[in-house]
Amino acid sequence: MKKELVTLTVNGEEKTLATAANRSLLNVLREDLNLTGTKQGCDDGDCGACTVLLDGEPVLSCMMLAASADCREVTTIEGLAREGKLDRVQAAFWTEGGMQCGFCTPGMIVSSYALLKRNPDPSEHEIRDALSNNLCRCTGYTKIVTAVQHAATFEEFLDKQS
Ligand code: FES
Ligand code: FES
Repeated sequence: MKKELVTLTVNGEEKTLATAANRSLLNVLREDLNLTGTKQGCDDGDCGACTVLLDGEPVLSCMMLAASADCREVTTIEGLAREGKLDRVQAAFWTEGGMQCGFCTPGMIVSSYALLKRNPDPSEHEIRDALSNNLCRCTGYTKIVTAVQHAATFEEFLDKQS
């Protein structure tokens, strides 16, 4: 199949690669850029494990062609930590035990991160609504919701780690 040149800014770094026109953003992230934090669950738009930010908005990377992300900014779970320190949402999932197997966790955290950017003080209903496209088979969601509520109270978790 004919390849296309695609330029993505991924976690702040510009990457140009040649890829077949029918490849998903998820596959390019995982297979070409080795960013395996983004998980491949259903590969069919149902589970949310593949959620990344596209220009700051959560998208299902399994449902998006890499070519459609040309010249746009992609943020994966790997891009949330700064200088080796966890983002507040990552930290809260850790301290609140918002994960068991962890397979859903990157997508949960990316969706939660986007929620807190647009709504710094979400209600429980708003958190559950924002995570309604992210499925978890392990936790029962209570600890995940608690983690997001906790993250909302961390103004700057980086200070707490130093
Ligand atoms: S892997 Fe994309 S929604 Fe399930
Ligand atoms: S922690 Fe296992 S699927 Fe969510």
